[in-house]
Amino acid sequence: MLFLGEVMNNHEIAKSDVVLIDELTETAEQLLNRHNQHPSDWEPSELIPYDIGQDYKNKPWSAQDYPLTDGVRSSIFVNLLTEDNLPYYSNTILHYLKDSVSLNEWSHVWTEEEAKHSTVIREWAHVTRALDPVELERARKVQMRKADVPNPQSLPDLLAYTSFQELATRVAHANTGRALDSERRGKLLMATVAGDENRHHIFYSELAKMALEIEPDAMLVGIRDQLVNFAMPGRGIPGFNRHSLKIERARIYDTPKYLNEVVIPTLGKWSINDIEALDQSGEIAREQINEHVRMLIAKVALIEEKRQVQDSQVNEQ
Ligand SMILES: [Fe+2]
Ligand SMILES: [Fe+2]
Repeated sequence: MLFLGEVMNNHEIAKSDVVLIDELTETAEQLLNRHNQHPSDWEPSELIPYDIGQDYKNKPWSAQDYPLTDGVRSSIFVNLLTEDNLPYYSNTILHYLKDSVSLNEWSHVWTEEEAKHSTVIREWAHVTRALDPVELERARKVQMRKADVPNPQSLPDLLAYTSFQELATRVAHANTGRALDSERRGKLLMATVAGDENRHHIFYSELAKMALEIEPDAMLVGIRDQLVNFAMPGRGIPGFNRHSLKIERARIYDTPKYLNEVVIPTLGKWSINDIEALDQSGEIAREQINEHVRMLIAKVALIEEKRQVQDSQVNEQ
């Protein structure tokens, strides 16, 4: 089961996880080769409009420097601080994957790419004045010192969580980019970062798919636990709930998007309802996954209904 906590992975890796890592070696090698054939080779410096940069000592930040809605500004803030923290997660990932050469290499590639994301978004935000740099730096210190990261307790937990999280991050970045303008290059920047997240999602979800073939019961239990307890890896960010609410109201990242663009496509890719010969734990976990999805569908229907009423009221005004 996932919980957010200190970066401490001193628990023993279960024997079943060691066996599973070994059995995943060939698939991991193929996925790593595929990832390396299309590396994240975009140049961060080309995505920053340096010509519009101004000295903060001479001209302190004001929200008017780059007028943005609250939801969009919150989304850039949360997305960037989430990226800041992800390399901490490398420790967790390496804990499970260190005995496999290709998975070890993958975790280094992944860490390098995630660090690139926080670097490029921060530089862009500084140059364009999209965020208050003083508030951002203060929040970075708090977030990094807390070192709150997902702490999966098994390899199936890790594979399930990263599959959902990478796709969720892709959706959040892509929709933030759509709300930005082309002139300051925010649209292209966020779309580019979202492209990397999609490639990360492909790696983890394909690996999870193979793990489902090898250990379907344990994987279904892991998927169930991660789905029911899913939380984006940004809980340590100051004001996280307040920002999340603004992001949700702006419809940049919300429950309907989580269901339709993260949960359903990922579960669909894994075809969990077609898996045969499960033991009791696998059967129960699958039923609970389906039950959770039904609950999300009902929740989304209520949200959509409420929004239709709100939208028609706005149109009447
Ligand atoms: Fe990232
Ligand atoms: Fe990623």
